[in-house]
Amino acid sequence: MIGQQHITRTLKNSILSGNISHAYLFTGTRGTGKTTTAKIFARAINCLHPREDGSPCNECEVCKALSQPNSLDIIEMDAASNNGVEDIRDLREKVKFPPTSCKYKVYIIDEVHMLSTSAFNALLKTLEEPPAHAVFILATTEVHKIPATILSRCMRLDFNLLTTGELVGLLRKIFEDIQKPYQKEALQLIAEAGDGSVRDSLSIADICLSYCDGEIKYDDVLEVLGASSPTMIVELVGYLVRGDISKALMLSEKITSMGKSVSLLAKDIAKMLRNIVFAKNCVNANQILMLPNEIFARLVQYSDICTNDKLVRMVDIFMKLEGELRYTSSASVTLEMAIVKACDVTISIDTNGIIQRLKDVESRVRLLSTLEKKTEVSEQLQLDVSIVWGKLLNVLSRKTSMISAYKTACEVDPKTQLKYENNILTINAIKQSQESILNYYINDFKNIICAEYFDIVDIKVVYENNVDEVAQGVMQLNDMFGGDVVKIKNKEN
Ligand SMILES: Nc1ncnc2c1ncn2[C@@H]1O[C@H](COP(=O)(O)OP(=O)(O)OP(=O)(O)O)[C@@H](O)[C@H]1O
Ligand SMILES: [Mg+2]
Ligand SMILES: [Zn+2]
Repeated sequence: MIGQQHITRTLKNSILSGNISHAYLFTGTRGTGKTTTAKIFARAINCLHPREDGSPCNECEVCKALSQPNSLDIIEMDAASNNGVEDIRDLREKVKFPPTSCKYKVYIIDEVHMLSTSAFNALLKTLEEPPAHAVFILATTEVHKIPATILSRCMRLDFNLLTTGELVGLLRKIFEDIQKPYQKEALQLIAEAGDGSVRDSLSIADICLSYCDGEIKYDDVLEVLGASSPTMIVELVGYLVRGDISKALMLSEKITSMGKSVSLLAKDIAKMLRNIVFAKNCVNANQILMLPNEIFARLVQYSDICTNDKLVRMVDIFMKLEGELRYTSSASVTLEMAIVKACDVTISIDTNGIIQRLKDVESRVRLLSTLEKKTEVSEQLQLDVSIVWGKLLNVLSRKTSMISAYKTACEVDPKTQLKYENNILTINAIKQSQESILNYYINDFKNIICAEYFDIVDIKVVYENNVDEVAQGVMQLNDMFGGDVVKIKNKEN
């Protein structure tokens, strides 16, 4: 076992002190050693002569008996395929019988989160009153799916992801054992790709072993991983830090046209930029990064012409890209825009956002000062309606493309038609067409007013219909065709 010292130490101590719990819960990410540890622990607690460190001797009769695949005393159950209540009932029947050849009967229930609810309930009964000789080891990657009643009866041990260093150590040992030559950088690459999981690292290493005839080389591992050649990525990143948009776009086009997926490319770029951050800020950066020397040397050059601030923003752009790619209809366009943004990081500063925030601050200050004024003299803010109207017209002229609408609004005479009272600005329309056009823009008016004057809580347009229907029809016709209305004749007269 490599890593997981907190777990091995706990388990060893309980073996050496003879203090064995009835139920353990092993949780943690895939491939970090849960099942393996469960199997070793099951043998260790039964071994007649455990070694000094608590591990099984592998020599005594019990160890030999338990190493047989179908041992009666170590029962491995895969809850993924035996998840029904009958399986657990069956287990409950059998657990009563004492072990045949050793001290403890150990049940390893792997992927325990797959049990059905009724199976969990049945298991709970057993965990509540386990026979003295029974030890349960439950293993799962998804601890949140385990009922709290079960959790509270288990000793929980969390398996961590392994560090790249630990993984490199393991791989080195394996390659040395089988006498396979390797490049240091290649091991680092395999370990990084394993992303903390021993199983993943081992399976990548396995593929590399069959892929490389002689030495395991950095470039071969890259090929196995389907990563793009780091020299190209380094070159691309070089254009980004120098702000050479044209060359950066051409190279990214070239890389994607070679069949590289945009999201992988984005990830590679982000990772290479992060390497520059290390090269810039850490003394022994390449002891951490383990990059081939010529690549590292170029990253150091780039780090000299880049501030941390710029680097962080660039990394950010490419990290976000991964999420954006999920919703975009054209991945390559999204990538290209990210490249442009990264080349000119000032573009990525959200000026609209800043302006909006300034406006918010301004209006809040204004609100505060009017509130203060109000408490002093509870008097209505004096407002020059003509000025207000001028502002509204101004904005409207920019907003609408309908000249006639703008013209209608211009016809409003602020002196006679506008009234400001009780925090309401009322516009008295003189005809229905005016009313409907102004009403059409009422929400725009409200927004403008709101941003400008806090006191006006409302604005409304009214039209007093004091002309009868006929007159209204005539007026409408007049509106449409123009001309002068001399006299309106009603039905009666
Ligand atoms: N900490 C470790 N040290 C050494 N080898 C390990 C370690 N963890 C896992 N392995 C190796 O990785 C492989 C997978 O381990 P194991 O099956 O125990 O993982 P697991 O945590 O049960 O994974 P899963 O959640 O997918 O069931 C095994 O070959 C095992 O030898
Ligand atoms: Mg497992
Ligand atoms: Zn033994």
